[in-house]
Amino acid sequence: MRVAVLNGVNLDALDKRDPEIYGGIGLAELESQIYAWSKVLECTTRCRQTNHEGQFVDWCHDALDWAGGVILNPGAWSHYSYAIRDAVELFKVPVVEVHLSNIEAREEWRRHSVIAELAAKRILGKGPAGYREALTYLVEGT
Ligand code: DQA
Repeated sequence: MRVAVLNGVNLDALDKRDPEIYGGIGLAELESQIYAWSKVLECTTRCRQTNHEGQFVDWCHDALDWAGGVILNPGAWSHYSYAIRDAVELFKVPVVEVHLSNIEAREEWRRHSVIAELAAKRILGKGPAGYREALTYLVEGT
């Protein structure tokens, strides 16, 4: 299976963000863990990150013809971007929404996700391991 992993705004600065919330891990380390888990699960994974909303939408469109499953962490866009929601709506393959932190236990404005109802599965607050759970779900269905 081919899996597209798209990380959004500010996730490139993960290692500079509050370690109490984000664990101090950097994006490069996170992506290398994702590639290592993908090897074990025998899936072909493509990780991408951008701070530009239009680019994120373009990469969703790219994934339409390529991916058998999609893992999305749009960062703060999750809470308000209807452009990204419209792009996510195009997927016919399962989409897993991942957040490193538990957005439902944080500030009021973070509790709502505009892509939540489109996700086959949501994984919140499990840190990097949330991506492993998402990959396992897409590949093995569990
Ligand atoms: C995040 C949660 C969002 O509220 C925040 O804006 C992020 C990261 C997470 O992974 O926990 O940038 O998506």
